[in-house]
Amino acid sequence: MQKINAEVVSQEKIGTDIYSMWIKAEEMVSCARPGQFVSLYCRDGAKLLPRPISICEIAKEQGALRIVYRVAGKGTEEFSAYKAGENVSVMGPLGNGFPLKEGRAILIGGGIGIPPMLELARQLTGQKQIVLGYRDSHMFLKEEFEAYGSVHVATEDGSAGTKGNVLDAIRTEGLQADVIYACGPTPMLKAIQAYAAESGTEAWISLEERMACGVGACLACVCKSKEKDEHTNVNNKRICKDGPVFRAEEVTL
Ligand SMILES: Cc1cc2nc3c(=O)[nH]c(=O)nc-3n(C[C@H](O)[C@H](O)[C@H](O)COP(=O)(O)OP(=O)(O)OC[C@H]3O[C@@H](n4cnc5c(N)ncnc54)[C@H](O)[C@@H]3O)c2cc1C
Ligand code: FES
Repeated sequence: MQKINAEVVSQEKIGTDIYSMWIKAEEMVSCARPGQFVSLYCRDGAKLLPRPISICEIAKEQGALRIVYRVAGKGTEEFSAYKAGENVSVMGPLGNGFPLKEGRAILIGGGIGIPPMLELARQLTGQKQIVLGYRDSHMFLKEEFEAYGSVHVATEDGSAGTKGNVLDAIRTEGLQADVIYACGPTPMLKAIQAYAAESGTEAWISLEERMACGVGACLACVCKSKEKDEHTNVNNKRICKDGPVFRAEEVTL
C-alpha cells in the first residue's frame, strides 16, 4: 500500500453522473487485485478524509488503474472535473479483494457496485454468468462485461431485462453456479446472503461503509461478524482492512 501522486490518463462521462477515470499508478498495478479499492484525496484541504473507490480495471502493461464512480457529493464532484494530465493524490491498493475460485461463477453487481466486478470478470477463468442490476435502462459498463461472459440484466422499472432485482433475474433465468461474487447496496447483499445459505452456494460479498482512515486504524467502518476480531477482541470486522470482501456467512448485515 502506498500513497502516490498519480497522473490522470483520461476521464470520461459514461452515464448520468457516472465517470470513468484511468490513472497512472505503476507502483500499484503489480499488487492490485479485483475487489480492492483506492482512496482518493481531494485538493480542497477542508475535506481531509480520502474517498474510497473500487478498482474497476487493472492494466498492468500500461501501469494504469481504472475507477468508475458516481458523483455523490463534493469529493466525487471535484474528481469528475479532473482532466487528463492533472494529478490526483491516491493511496492503495487497499483491502483484501476477491479470491479467484475455480468452477462456474455468478458475478452480481448492483448500481455503483457494478464497477469492481469488471476486473473480476476479466481474471476469473471458469464459466461466468454476470448479473447487473440497474434502476432503469440507463445502463453503464454492460457492453464491456459482454466480452467475459453471459450478461443478464435486472431493472427496477422493467425497462430492460428482468423487472425487479438481481435475484429475480437469477431465479427467472434459472442461473446456477459453484460460487457467487457480489457487490452492491446492503439490502441486495443481505438477500444474496440468504439465497447463498438456502441454496448451499459459496458466496463472497463486498461491503461498503463510510470510512475515515481507510487503513484499519480508526474503527469507523466496522460491521458485525460471527468471529471475534483479533484487533479489538469483539465481534467486529473492519471493512477497510479485513474486507471489503467477506465470505457471506462471516458477517451480519
Ligand atoms: C470500499 C468502498 C468502495 C467504493 N467504491 C465505489 C466505487 O467504485 N464507485 C463509487 O461511485 N463509489 C464507491 N464508493 C462510495 C464512495 O466512497 C462515496 O460515494 C464517496 O466517498 C462519496 O464522497 P463525496 O465527497 O462525493 O460525498 P459526501 O459528501 O462524503 O457524501 C455524499 C453522500 O454519499 C454518501 N456516502 C459517502 N460515503 C459513502 C460510502 N462509503 N458508502 C455509501 N455512501 C456513502 C453520504 O452518506 C452522502 O449521502 C465506495 C465506498 C467504499 C467504502
Ligand atoms: S476506516 Fe478506519 S478502520 Fe476502517
